[in-house]
Amino acid sequence: MPSTQHGDLQDRKALVTGATSGIGRAIAMQLAGEGADVVVHGRDAARGDETVEAITAAGGRARFVSADLSDPADISRLAGNVGDIDVLVNNAGFAVFGATADLQVGAFDAMFASNVRAPFFLVAAFAPGMAARGTGSIINVSSMVGQIGLAGAAAYGATKGAIESMTRAWSAEFSPSGVRVNAIAPGPVYTGGAAPQRTEALGTTTLLNRAASPEEIAEVVGFLASPRASYVTGAVVAADGGRTAI
Ligand SMILES: NC(=O)c1ccc[n+]([C@@H]2O[C@H](COP(=O)([O-])OP(=O)(O)OC[C@H]3O[C@@H](n4cnc5c(N)ncnc54)[C@H](OP(=O)(O)O)[C@@H]3O)[C@@H](O)[C@H]2O)c1
Repeated sequence: MPSTQHGDLQDRKALVTGATSGIGRAIAMQLAGEGADVVVHGRDAARGDETVEAITAAGGRARFVSADLSDPADISRLAGNVGDIDVLVNNAGFAVFGATADLQVGAFDAMFASNVRAPFFLVAAFAPGMAARGTGSIINVSSMVGQIGLAGAAAYGATKGAIESMTRAWSAEFSPSGVRVNAIAPGPVYTGGAAPQRTEALGTTTLLNRAASPEEIAEVVGFLASPRASYVTGAVVAADGGRTAI
């Protein structure tokens, strides 16, 4: 659990997609540490249960709900199961890297289904209720690759460019009703979702000359989720060791 337990999310309910692993797991731990009641989402029930156990062992509150976000019917089922929430973190996603000529149509479509279509319909499910209640915070997990050109990442980068564009449009749509919508664009992060050699090599291209831990990303998400970020909306916050500054 994070050392800074502000309690800023006391009495708030949060859904973190893709919280069975990597960055999402660290975000779930962070939000629970700040007092939120967290819905841990993913597909792998064993890792979901493990995340819930880690949160409860640290004194937090959480439960696991599984859903395959590539299936629109499962997105609706997830939304119905979860009910009203105050914080939505669209974190679930994945990357297929490789030469453009080698990327299969199925991989291209699968990335857009999980990284773009799923967040779109989760916001469609949850944001109107937040707007009706006049409060809420939505954080979309993008990537520095949404901004920089990286060979072998044209399709993945396009999914992250799309989520950043949707972040701005959703802030225009929902922030006048009190819902803040932001994105975080991490640089390379050590998780199971990326080959360690790739992560390490990308880390050396940053100004800090290293990749990040998932907790360093979760800390920023905790800030964006909380009232401490009360005047921040429509922003894409870089957490990339300065990579996009150069
Ligand atoms: N690692 C990096 O260097 C990096 C950098 C920038 C941005 N990001 C972004 O950060 C986010 C998390 O990445 P990560 O590296 O932490 O990945 P990870 O360790 O592989 O975790 C991915 C999570 O997303 C879930 N997920 C993926 N597709 C799903 C689907 N169709 N339906 C339901 N759940 C799905 C997985 O669930 P199950 O395992 O339970 O199936 C898992 O919980 C992604 O959006 C990624 O693009 C990562």
